Amino acid sequence: MAGKAASYRCTDCGHAALTWTGQCPGCGTWNTLEQVSSPSVGRRGGGARRATGPKPVALRDVKAERSERLGTGIAELDRVLGGGLVPGSLVLLGGAPGIGKSTLAGMALANLAAAGQPVLYVSGEESAAQVRRRAERLGEAALSVPMLAEPSLESVLAALEAERPAACVIDSVQTLAIPDSAPGSVGAVREATSALLETAKRLDVTLILIGHVTKEGSLAGPRALEHLVDCVLHFEGERERTFRTLRALKNRFGATSEVGVFEMRQGGLVEVADPSARFVGEAQSAAGSVVLCAMEGTRPLLVEVQALVAPTEIVPPRRTATGVDRNRLALVLAVLMRHAGISLSAADVFVNVAGGIRVDEPGADLAIALAVSSAHSGRALGTDGKPLACFGEIGLTGEIRYVAHADRRVAEARKFGLERVLGPPPGDEKIPGLASVGSLKAALSGGGARPLRRAA
Ligand code: TYD
Ligand code: MG
Repeated sequence: MAGKAASYRCTDCGHAALTWTGQCPGCGTWNTLEQVSSPSVGRRGGGARRATGPKPVALRDVKAERSERLGTGIAELDRVLGGGLVPGSLVLLGGAPGIGKSTLAGMALANLAAAGQPVLYVSGEESAAQVRRRAERLGEAALSVPMLAEPSLESVLAALEAERPAACVIDSVQTLAIPDSAPGSVGAVREATSALLETAKRLDVTLILIGHVTKEGSLAGPRALEHLVDCVLHFEGERERTFRTLRALKNRFGATSEVGVFEMRQGGLVEVADPSARFVGEAQSAAGSVVLCAMEGTRPLLVEVQALVAPTEIVPPRRTATGVDRNRLALVLAVLMRHAGISLSAADVFVNVAGGIRVDEPGADLAIALAVSSAHSGRALGTDGKPLACFGEIGLTGEIRYVAHADRRVAEARKFGLERVLGPPPGDEKIPGLASVGSLKAALSGGGARPLRRAA
């Protein structure tokens, strides 16, 4: 006997319930439970009912996953995916409008088509002429990609059955027209995704769903989608700047720590294989600038952190963080005041990671602190025309704490001619080039001071 069908579903998180309640038991949102008219949502076409009473199978007898992957010809994208697209998988590519999602997906399809793979580009977002104009910028291969414009879910499913592409891009999942639902609504996006999922798995089609990100930074209809798909990729950067980063927020077939770096140019996205060189080359040895030895996934990355401190009458003064976490900035400012006597209560503070890169790790604390204090004092920290390099987490008592991969961070800095790096005491490791500082105070005095012992 099949399980009892749920008759209410939360439009926010997709939680299924047998009875109506004012608050969704799944996500706690109010008034989001809606009656489900037909319990077979997402089982379009029917027919494929599970056999009753399935027989459990020992794991060693389970068919191993197919290992060959589809290379997209874009090394940074393949790396973030964990080695290319897994056939039959569902990838959600999210990002703000204008960031380059269609460009990235279009380039991947063009490369696959050039390698002889059947592909399909479904555009609900833009007219055929607009897509053509983009393809013209991307080159000859992009123009040979077959495309379907102004699609409905039904027509896309039919096209997948008829064409059986190896890879198909849906641009975007929010624009698929579904009878009886408002396009872009959470329910519609969910229904479209489950229907696509069923067809893609059955036909072994790799699907790349493009999704818009709302102002709050989540994909529209997001929580409902993220568990349906195999990979969630997020494309970000500032629209006005040229650098873009691609990360995996979820990956069933690889790590989520990898980050790809791209630059938007005239002829499409160009991979930046060695971003450190770019950022160090552009770094200033002026007051308020330091180089942070960051880790992006498994890869060290040198970025320039800049700060500006300006007197203000505004209360409370402004705190603007671009590329680093606002809360980390607040913490660093509090520690600077409490443990280094640098009070910025009458100053606006702006911190920016140059190039439009985002650094999300506590290892950025020391760079923020040094950039701010240097901006405050007006004294440049670098020597011989070279900027100061550093990394390390700052604790609430003003100590500099160990962060992972100290050796690789220092090695990366030295590779680009920054011979001396301020960082936390490395424990029993020996790291040539590392000037260890135990406290923020020691770091501010240039790392010459004897490292403080951390209190037990
Ligand atoms: P697009 O891929 O359309 O963004 P999304 O699908 O995420 O909304 O690209 C948006 C921007 O990229 C657009 O402003 C134009 C620019 N662009 C280039 O600079 N060079 C190019 O070769 C292409 C195709 C686009
Ligand atoms: Mg687009």
